[in-house]
Amino acid sequence: MIKTLINTPALVNYMNRLNAEKQRLEAVHMREMFATDPSRFDKMSISNDGILFDYSKNRIDEKALSVLIKVAKESRLEQVRDDMFAGVKINTTEDRAVLHTALRSRSDALIMVDGKNVMPEIKAELEKMADFANSVRSGRYQVTGGKITDVVNIGIGGSDLGPRMATQSLREFNDGPKLHFVANSDATDLDDIIEHIDPATTLFIVASKSFATAETMLNARNAKLWLENALGKNIGGHFCALSTNLKATQAFGVSKKRTFGFWDWVGGRFSIWSAIGLSLMISIGPEDFDKFLNGANSADQHFLNAPLDQNIPVIMALLGVWYRNVLGFPVQAVMPYDSRMSRFPAWLQQLDMESNGKSVLKSNELTMLDTGPIIFGEVGTNGQHAFYQLIHQGTTIIPCDFLLACKGYGGQENRNMLISNCLAQTEALMAGRTLEEADNNPHHVFEGNRPSNTFLYEEVTPHTLGMLMAFYEHKVFIQGILWGINSFDQWGVELGKELVCNIEPMLEPNNKLAAQNSSTEGLLKAVREMKKS
Ligand code: F6P
Repeated sequence: MIKTLINTPALVNYMNRLNAEKQRLEAVHMREMFATDPSRFDKMSISNDGILFDYSKNRIDEKALSVLIKVAKESRLEQVRDDMFAGVKINTTEDRAVLHTALRSRSDALIMVDGKNVMPEIKAELEKMADFANSVRSGRYQVTGGKITDVVNIGIGGSDLGPRMATQSLREFNDGPKLHFVANSDATDLDDIIEHIDPATTLFIVASKSFATAETMLNARNAKLWLENALGKNIGGHFCALSTNLKATQAFGVSKKRTFGFWDWVGGRFSIWSAIGLSLMISIGPEDFDKFLNGANSADQHFLNAPLDQNIPVIMALLGVWYRNVLGFPVQAVMPYDSRMSRFPAWLQQLDMESNGKSVLKSNELTMLDTGPIIFGEVGTNGQHAFYQLIHQGTTIIPCDFLLACKGYGGQENRNMLISNCLAQTEALMAGRTLEEADNNPHHVFEGNRPSNTFLYEEVTPHTLGMLMAFYEHKVFIQGILWGINSFDQWGVELGKELVCNIEPMLEPNNKLAAQNSSTEGLLKAVREMKKS
């Protein structure tokens, strides 16, 4: 029996209609949809500021999409969107505004939080970052060994994934010092980097919103020790900090001059647009960082102004809901055809799964609908030679997003191979191959009808990447609204952190072993034994 919810998400009330649309479309293969409507691509693709979003290879038509648009409207999407941009505290479980969009705002409009306009502080912090980045890049900023040659960003989660992915993706624009990233508490993560760099010309950026994350603080302490061993105690100039916790940055010994702040209304996984983007800014320079913000702002303007049925993040989100809740596909893949974007799937995993991997609604009730999908991905063409077999012929249908640049690094032969492979995959997924076309060999049959979106752009520039990332941010936000959950907290990561405090002392051979259950106890015993030998 279905439990009645007090604040039922509109989507619940539309499930019957959506299921009827599903049944209607079950009889129609995408091949047929293309064959009967020559204008399908024109109708089902949207261009915005250099990005073409083709969603025509999806198991949907205008009629089914119009029902989903109704769901979005009834979920008050436009109102909640405007609330977010205006600084309303839509992160209800933490009583916070959600204003990553203000960090890339290009307008003079005031954005008020608790009676204060946040824009002057944002601008001041950005200017301070740009001054510092310029002085590091030009060599004006001097440390023990002179000019900085290497920058190591120490951070994890949102304080690592976005900056690392963007810095790698934009390597073509790196004309500053060499960037490195350390996240894991596994000592090899730091050691494998410091092995190759000169302590006298290295700058460490300790990036942590809370400045309390155990892995980051451990790595920061170890980096400090390494510097002290090499250079003595006077190493303050080799550190800067990015955080909202200015007390803790001072306690760690970072000078205020080199501390860059941000605010509680910037979620960790949305923080690359804030001081957390300093590593990227040092790598590509403040001007290109500004273009990156511009790109994100362009996506914001599109999200704010385009009609819902012409709105890229809205369509992305509605298709995701269609597959997750109506067709019952639990996974979503993302395939950048770009080696330098290899961390894009990892960045998206945190953005999507930490935001929407929830079971409790904003109304405190348990959801009766599935929420965030499982995200995974790999660069093309590598993935083709690994797991695409399952995507083409497996029993689980996995909607895919393909990201493709027409121009970029290298010669035409390489580029054309990437482009043709990417388009071939989307075509194979959509059209498949019938038994007849497979000469009656069932192993050579591809049922097709497998969905994909394609994002096409000239090349990966700061502007394009900013736009792409912001589209995904908004897609996640919109889905959260449709599911009735708060996409901006992450309580699900806390229990594990708490249990570490019980478990860690039990690793000491002389401490009492009293684990919560026989499995953990047995494993701890085995750990103690194996550590001895
Ligand atoms: O544990 C999860 C998390 O809080 C993420 O949300 C966040 O991006 C990451 O840890 C790092 O947090 P911080 O920037 O405070 O070190």
